[in-house]
Amino acid sequence: MRKKIIAGNWKMNKTPSETVQLINELRPLVASEEVDVVFCVPAISLTKAIEAAQGSNIEIGAENMYYEESGAYTGEIAPNMLTDIGVKYVIIGHSERREYFAETDETVNKKVLKAFEHGITPIVCCGESLTQREQGVTIDWIRQQIKIAFLNVTSEQAKAAVIAYEPIWAIGTGKVATSEQAQEVCAAIRQCIKEIYDEATAEAIRIQYGGSVTADSASELFAQPDIDGGLVGGASLKPDFGKIVNYK
Ligand code: 13P
Repeated sequence: MRKKIIAGNWKMNKTPSETVQLINELRPLVASEEVDVVFCVPAISLTKAIEAAQGSNIEIGAENMYYEESGAYTGEIAPNMLTDIGVKYVIIGHSERREYFAETDETVNKKVLKAFEHGITPIVCCGESLTQREQGVTIDWIRQQIKIAFLNVTSEQAKAAVIAYEPIWAIGTGKVATSEQAQEVCAAIRQCIKEIYDEATAEAIRIQYGGSVTADSASELFAQPDIDGGLVGGASLKPDFGKIVNYK
């Protein structure tokens, strides 16, 4: 049985002081032994978030990371800067980073490999646009994203990875995918992992759904056989996140 993993993606929200306040507020609400709970916060708030989450079940993740060890990469964050302060997860290749910061499947792959090298669990994002869905190329597109993201990743590493399926048309729009739509793509992702590796890897890897998840939609989505939790944007900044974590 795969343990569910429910992560908040705070995106570019909350100052470091507001981060402490929000974690203090959410901490009792997200207490759960049944699911893994991760808060992915802006880089500048990571240290404070880790301090504020101490003694709770909340793990802290970054929203991005660079694929080099160190050097002349102004403004970037190196993997050992994250591990040094206790960051356990990192979101890689979110569609907003692909759209606004020119991330590609190739940079996603380099970052995934680097995260594993440092023992950080990547939350690897994929997802189609509305045009792609309407053109009927969703599954082809997602398979390509996954195959490139996992190039040279070993099966042992892949077993520990998290994939977030986030249809771009569902992000921040209030238009959540139906549980059938989300299940169909998450099952296809698992099938793709099985083809790349084997059954055991496909059964172990955790696949989240993301895109306008709310306390109302969470329970039906997370009940799908191939959906192992969620990557939650807007609703992760509110007490509602407690309801999403305790969705049953
Ligand atoms: P929303 O939940 O705000 O739609 O954002 C989803 C998302 O992008 C999480 O990474």
